[in-house]
Amino acid sequence: MASFNKDSLGNTIFVAVAVCLVCSVFVAMANVTLKPTHALNKELDQKENILRAAGLLPPGSDVAADGRGIQEIFQDFTVKAVNLDTGEYLDDFDMRGYDAVRMSKSPDNSRALSEDEDTVTIRRRENIGLVYLKEGADGTLEKLVIPVRGYGLWGTLFGYLAIDSDLTTVSGLGFYEHKETPGLGGEVDNPIWKDKWHGVQLFNDSGAPAVKLVKTRSPADSPAAVYEVDALSGATFTTRGVQNLVNFWTGELGYGPLINRLKTPS
Ligand SMILES: Cc1cc2nc3c(=O)[nH]c(=O)nc-3n(C[C@H](O)[C@H](O)[C@H](O)COP(=O)(O)O)c2cc1C
Repeated sequence: MASFNKDSLGNTIFVAVAVCLVCSVFVAMANVTLKPTHALNKELDQKENILRAAGLLPPGSDVAADGRGIQEIFQDFTVKAVNLDTGEYLDDFDMRGYDAVRMSKSPDNSRALSEDEDTVTIRRRENIGLVYLKEGADGTLEKLVIPVRGYGLWGTLFGYLAIDSDLTTVSGLGFYEHKETPGLGGEVDNPIWKDKWHGVQLFNDSGAPAVKLVKTRSPADSPAAVYEVDALSGATFTTRGVQNLVNFWTGELGYGPLINRLKTPS
């Protein structure tokens, strides 16, 4: 009778395939079971980023001064889909699964930007964006938070810009994803630099985006000073990218039409 050879080629392949199959079943199961948790964490993370940009969470803490957590504070916000060309709200738009970058890659749902227009290096701009409105008890707007993105040195920076109720003054700016170098362009995350955005004016007297990141600030009493923020030292490319992305997304091709519409009493 032929003896069983456990080290034969056939057996080795059989065991290897069996191990792979069992492992892939476990990985697939883990993926399916953890999907809702991933989605929830992603949603919570975005809410946290929006609240941080709006200055509603103290740095390093996920609880506000009044003890409220992220989900609770976010209840004060309304999310609206916006037609970026007209600035009109799209109340029937299904926001589930919305992804600005994915939409910007679909020719049917985005517009191509010319070289002159594309100061943020995104090539195409999505037709619909999501904004976050914080309204007071009487329905008046307290803060508008818009998503911003644009190229720095190593990649695209993604963040949120929070604007005060006058729709002109910066309430805060924060990035939740970027590839800039820690200590150089990565200083966009430095709370001291982020603080400098508070109170900056977004638009000049003609209503055009006017933010300027400068190495030397104008005298505090000069008209130019209100649009200025300190450049990041040793990070000229990131600095230019941040200036461009703020001006792009508050401009005509970004949320400018919405901002102008909200400024005009109906
Ligand atoms: C390893 C390395 C990382 C860098 N990272 C950044 C960066 O994150 N952002 C940036 O604008 N420039 C970055 N630079 C580019 C230089 O710092 C560049 O010289 C600088 O942007 C010029 O700025 P300055 O005109 O203020 O000297 C990096 C350079 C090196 C060698």
